[in-house]
Amino acid sequence: MADEAAMKAHDYADYPGSVSVESDGVSGRWSTQYLAAVIDRRLHALVHGQEQSPQVLRSAIGYSVLAPGKRLRPMITLLTSFQFGRRDLLALDCACAVEMIHAASLLMDDLPAMDNAKMRRGQPTTHRKFGEDVAVLSGVALLNMAFGVVASVDGIPAPARAALVRLFSNAVGCNGLVGGQVMDLRTRFAGIGVSELERLNECKTGALFAAAAEAGAIVAAAPDPMLEPVRRFALDLGRAFQIADDVLDGAAHAGRTGKDTGKDNGKPTLASVLGNDGARQLYRAYVVNCRQAVAAIGAADAPLGAFVEHCLSQVDV
Ligand code: IPE
Ligand code: IPE
Ligand code: MG
Ligand code: MG
Ligand code: MG
Repeated sequence: MADEAAMKAHDYADYPGSVSVESDGVSGRWSTQYLAAVIDRRLHALVHGQEQSPQVLRSAIGYSVLAPGKRLRPMITLLTSFQFGRRDLLALDCACAVEMIHAASLLMDDLPAMDNAKMRRGQPTTHRKFGEDVAVLSGVALLNMAFGVVASVDGIPAPARAALVRLFSNAVGCNGLVGGQVMDLRTRFAGIGVSELERLNECKTGALFAAAAEAGAIVAAAPDPMLEPVRRFALDLGRAFQIADDVLDGAAHAGRTGKDTGKDNGKPTLASVLGNDGARQLYRAYVVNCRQAVAAIGAADAPLGAFVEHCLSQVDV
């Protein structure tokens, strides 16, 4: 095993517990901190493997993806694959693809035409650092890179690889985060109902969480009936996550989040429509559903269940 300290790109000290993983004949307990560092190292290799491309593009992509995010979604992919029996890192590249998609969604969300944000992950947003032109093109490149990575994974049967590409395509597309972002930007009108706002959050945030978990299950060849509760736990986690993010946005916790706050001022959100107490009630309902689905896949006492609790503790409103 490589030196854990040397691999640590960021401080994941508060990640919970450890997981049993065997790889190349080596078996032992790897900490979730270690797995997060493995994700960072692989992301670094994937991003900097494009040696022929313009330096500014590689720099902008690396700046966005390798910045100290929490890596919640790729960890969910890996831990879901472990939950269904993998004892290696076969899901690692899919996990990295999820993080690439997420990073692309963030840098686009921050653009002047969208949320016009100044700070992300504790540093100036990508368009402020590299210009809007390069930022937009970095987002497009990152999305395409993610699909190339998934299509090239070794050791996964071709039908499963095709299913993964389809899964990510749906998560990104018109009924996923792009559709959700358009609803967010263009159809948030005064008087919008709670169910429409729930749908918006489900698309812009829940869809990628759900795909992250389902990807881990597909890589591990989980039984088909398990895919529904897998999607459900992650979708409800994503819903809870976004509602909490909206509450925090209003509460101006920039120090805590490393990004701009008050971006939703004047826009209806579940927090503004329901009020903070109503939003908290809905948050708790999502959390209950999420935990039920975690139990349905037998993960309540497993590393995946512990990690879901960790994600929830990040956004405990
Ligand atoms: C931010 O997600 C975007 C939302 C869905 C609210 P994260 O809070 O997971 O962002 P990073 O990856 O840690 O920066
Ligand atoms: C957007 O929601 C979530 C994405 C799909 C990027 P927000 O606009 O609230 O996300 P933050 O608060 O900027 O991270
Ligand atoms: Mg936004
Ligand atoms: Mg935003
Ligand atoms: Mg927000």
